[in-house]
Amino acid sequence: TTVLILNGPNLGRLGVREPEIYGHASMADLEREGARWGAELGLTVDVRQTDDESTLVGWLHEAVDSRAHVVLNPAAFTHYSYALRDAAAQVTTSGLLLVEVHLSNPASRESFRHYSVVAGIATGTVAGFGFDSYRLALAALAHKLED
Ligand code: DQA
Repeated sequence: TTVLILNGPNLGRLGVREPEIYGHASMADLEREGARWGAELGLTVDVRQTDDESTLVGWLHEAVDSRAHVVLNPAAFTHYSYALRDAAAQVTTSGLLLVEVHLSNPASRESFRHYSVVAGIATGTVAGFGFDSYRLALAALAHKLED
């Protein structure tokens, strides 16, 4: 079972970008830890990041075509990209799991972060646990696959 951990814009700056909000771990740390957490859960994990909406949409199409589940941190696209939502909807409507993830808790931040266009089509959401949000999302996904 393969899980794509997909990350949107500015998340390549993790560790450098506003560490008081997003923590000190980097995308390279997520690549390494994600693979390790996945292996413990019996999942093959592929961690990717892009600043480009079209690339992210393409990866979601790839998930559908290759039958991979998805952990998605859409970053700022969360709040306004209907293209991303429509692509993410194809994942869940095709019977695959998609967990929306955020390092911070967007609900406790600026009002423009309170609405997610992705949440309504996601299997579920994990937010507010920093780097650990990704580990919790993978664990939740693995548990749900066992049902
Ligand atoms: C984020 C929250 C978003 O509001 C923000 O635009 C991000 C990161 C998070 O992981 O907390 O880039 O998705």
